[in-house]
Amino acid sequence: MNFESPAASVPDHELPPLVGIASFEDATESGLPVEDCVRRLKRFHYSLWRIHQICIAHIACEPLYELKMAFSMHAHLAAEMDTLFRSRVGEMREPPLGLEKSQHPALDVFFDEILATPMVEERLLGLYQIAFPALREGLKRYIAETHPLADYPSRRICRIALLDLVDICAWGEKALASLVTERQRAECGHWLAFLEVCLASAGGLDGTGKTTANDEAPLRHYSSKPFVFDGTPRRDERFPDPYNMGVNAEIFLYDEEMPANAKVLMMFYKRLREIDVPEMMCSIIAETKGKPWSYYRDMTRQLWDEARHAMMGEVGFVSEGIDWQKLVMVNSTWSRSLNTQLTPKERHAVLYFIEQGLMPKTGKRHEWVVSKDAGNPLATTFQDFDWADEVLHARVGRDWYVSDMPGVREAIDYGDACWSKVLVGWGEWKEQGLTEHRNWWPDLYQAWCAKRGTTPDPRALAFCETYEGKRADLKTITPSA
Ligand SMILES: [Fe+2]
Ligand SMILES: [Fe+2]
Ligand SMILES: [Fe+2]
Repeated sequence: MNFESPAASVPDHELPPLVGIASFEDATESGLPVEDCVRRLKRFHYSLWRIHQICIAHIACEPLYELKMAFSMHAHLAAEMDTLFRSRVGEMREPPLGLEKSQHPALDVFFDEILATPMVEERLLGLYQIAFPALREGLKRYIAETHPLADYPSRRICRIALLDLVDICAWGEKALASLVTERQRAECGHWLAFLEVCLASAGGLDGTGKTTANDEAPLRHYSSKPFVFDGTPRRDERFPDPYNMGVNAEIFLYDEEMPANAKVLMMFYKRLREIDVPEMMCSIIAETKGKPWSYYRDMTRQLWDEARHAMMGEVGFVSEGIDWQKLVMVNSTWSRSLNTQLTPKERHAVLYFIEQGLMPKTGKRHEWVVSKDAGNPLATTFQDFDWADEVLHARVGRDWYVSDMPGVREAIDYGDACWSKVLVGWGEWKEQGLTEHRNWWPDLYQAWCAKRGTTPDPRALAFCETYEGKRADLKTITPSA
């Protein structure tokens, strides 16, 4: 839009008509009826809701780091977009009831199949070659066909969603090109054709095509058995020692004798280790049923923040020229223990307990101050936002966990108790040959000092504190073995 006028005397009637929403030519054409719009908007909502479930269900068990992060982000974006469509449906003479209802049996099968496939290549093809692009095209069609003025609010949210979808599809294309070979595509051919049949039977994802009768659902393949969520965290080869609890980051950060710049290095490790929070939170989201939609939306926002924090740690190491894959042993013991030993509510209690700031000395403000003291601008930016995000997470905890407890004190005590009952198999893992709990810190610190051409601080170099018998808040625990 060009609001610049050549002279102040230009009369108002030369302003773009209709606040620039549309030309009179377009606005004098009739548009879709409300009923049709609601039907399509419900399809968009339903598709995003199912895509959110699919992404959440595969964060913990997906070993490839980049995919774990992508599913975390795309779950969040799907939840945000879904929120827009849910509320819009409620504005269009439709009470927002029955939103989780099936829109067409063939569409149910379509998403159930992508959820249930045991092969990651098929899941990626189903999501990024078929589902997301179909949604993108459906939104484009909606924007083109609905009345720009009469249905302005829907058109606006479709345009917002399209911004994210275009990015998701572009990423998906690159991911498919790099992860799925031509041979694998050919091997998946039958199943992909089956997905297309499902979509066609449902009249396309947005239901604008010809639909088959509502009781006709294609015969299920992978989804003939109910999907079982697997919360066991898996990691790729860049995480070669996932049981290693040999470097106690909190003791290091707590120690006033340690130099600030070495603490920044340790904080990059702490950030990267946050990869275990999306792994844990996805299990709470997947296994907690019957909450209001805003619960799932808020929890997924937090999950994505935690994934971003992990990537900030990765960026920190990259900025220092450190090969973290070889020098930093990022474990998955926390998400593993919580997902396999606690109920979803107990896991949430532990998360809240850890996040609501009972560790002031090693807390979020402290980490930001340390970054500033160390004169590291990148770490300062990261810690600044990490801190801001954690304040938001404390609110999410209050809204969805504390509100379910008799009071704040009980909520904190319960979180503390749940964390204490988690059995950490320190000795057991060692005996089973799963880890040596090797102290990898001196090698990392030395490599970093060599890069910078500085002499290692002898105290920092000699650091040798493990998590044996200790929790991250430095409270003593009883090991299981
Ligand atoms: Fe976190
Ligand atoms: Fe964080
Ligand atoms: Fe957090």
